[in-house]
Amino acid sequence: MPTARLLPGAPVAERILADVAAGVTALRAAGTTPSLATILVGDDDASAGYIRIKQRQAAELGFDSPHVHLPATATQADLHRVITEFNTAPDVHGLLIQHPIPGHLDYDRALQTMDPDLDVDGMHPLNMGRLALGLPGPLPCTPAGIEALLAFHDVPVAGRDVVILGRGATLGRPLALLLTQKRPTANAAVTVVHTGVPDWATHTRRADILIAAAGVPGIVQPEHVRPGAVVIGGGVRYEGRRLLPDVDESCAEVAGAITPRVGGVGPTTVAMLFRNALDAARRATGHA
Ligand SMILES: NC(=O)c1ccc[n+]([C@@H]2O[C@H](COP(=O)([O-])OP(=O)(O)OC[C@H]3O[C@@H](n4cnc5c(N)ncnc54)[C@H](OP(=O)(O)O)[C@@H]3O)[C@@H](O)[C@H]2O)c1
Repeated sequence: MPTARLLPGAPVAERILADVAAGVTALRAAGTTPSLATILVGDDDASAGYIRIKQRQAAELGFDSPHVHLPATATQADLHRVITEFNTAPDVHGLLIQHPIPGHLDYDRALQTMDPDLDVDGMHPLNMGRLALGLPGPLPCTPAGIEALLAFHDVPVAGRDVVILGRGATLGRPLALLLTQKRPTANAAVTVVHTGVPDWATHTRRADILIAAAGVPGIVQPEHVRPGAVVIGGGVRYEGRRLLPDVDESCAEVAGAITPRVGGVGPTTVAMLFRNALDAARRATGHA
């Protein structure tokens, strides 16, 4: 019988998106239509679907969303040419390269071609550096979404013992940087565990907040969770359309609060993308 309080992401995302919509309205009233450009490479159905959802949401929020779809045969130079065109387009404020791109292309090199101020994913090396130094800039969407989710659900983070399972560039590593920053919704004692820490469970079992960021289905089991702890499921793997989360559902019997199997961290990630896009437009037009 699950006993944990559920921590859904949808109401968090709704609040963020309502703020974004208000910000877009204000920016348009001041004469700027914010613009989030997207690039899709290849014919992956899932990626095309994600882009369609983001474009629909961009339109609903009042963004322009110019889009380029490159064929699966596109070269690295083709991709860089499109990125450079968006970099220099005066009416484009944010840019997203849908991930993954075909295997013969190098995503990191493409990202480094992007103007860091357009980077709505917050993954450009310069923006990671800004995050490490506590300088303003776009934050990586999933870590920022997790901080917002904890704050929205009144889960205290400051001064508490947070253990993150996984040190990947998308989630674990930037999340550790974010949650150690000195502000009321962060300011935690953060431990990051990974395959180099074979007895990682000794760390997770003492965590006030355990955040799974491994991408290994079912890696977090009830015996890894301190009774009453908060458990956040960030890591997921897809098998086709099937979503396989890191956190086993039975953890709800031990945890005090837990993200739902579906609809936890995911919605907050997408909302943060649009918040980054709005902030980019504000910065570019002197409305920051
Ligand atoms: N929910 C969302 O919206 C959202 C958004 C973005 C990403 N994600 C998910 O977040 C997850 C992490 O992504 P990422 O790119 O940051 O990470 P990643 O590069 O895939 O790295 C995974 C991390 O997990 C650790 N790990 C894997 N197996 C382990 C094991 N058996 N024991 C201990 N540690 C283990 C790895 O350790 P080593 O470093 O030692 O190899 C690594 O640090 C993925 O599942 C991704 O799909 C979710």
